[in-house]
Amino acid sequence: MKKNIVLIGFMGTGKSSVGSKLAMKLNKEFVDMDREIENISGMTVTEIFRRFGELRFRSEESLMAKKLSLRDNLVIATGGGTVLLPENIEVLRQNGIIILLEATAQDIHTRVSRKKGTRPLLKGSYTAEDIQHLLDERKPYYDCADIRVNTSSKDLDAVIEEIINELNQYETLS
Ligand code: S3P
Repeated sequence: MKKNIVLIGFMGTGKSSVGSKLAMKLNKEFVDMDREIENISGMTVTEIFRRFGELRFRSEESLMAKKLSLRDNLVIATGGGTVLLPENIEVLRQNGIIILLEATAQDIHTRVSRKKGTRPLLKGSYTAEDIQHLLDERKPYYDCADIRVNTSSKDLDAVIEEIINELNQYETLS
């Protein structure tokens, strides 16, 4: 199967760590969209937001989605907000299976609190309730997934195993 695997989901749901391990298992190349944007622009995501604003970041993100959709055999970790522009998912879906990683607001809060300062949308103090509010707002966008996997209370290997099982079933049915 040469199709891309596209991981979507809120910040802190494990897209990057799951993505890099999954890619190794499936013999695919791992690409993290945020890191690619940083490499190309020579700025961190936080810097892009600070200097040029969210709109500019979203346009870099859309360009990256288009570019990656032209390649195959990738595992792509999207940014948490890549889904907000439906055209991003449309292009990524042309050549990819969309997998949503989910987690509880409490788990997300614990995970993102460990990496304070790296996520411009979560600057300042925020609670698990604030995260739940954003999750509720974004739910309709994350509903575009072909496969959903919950990463709360599971270790990395269990998540990978579940994704591989789901992918096998998905391929059998499609
Ligand atoms: C964002 C999520 C971030 C990054 C940017 C915006 C979002 O990626 O793309 O800060 O809108 O949810 P991660 O989901 O990898 O943290």
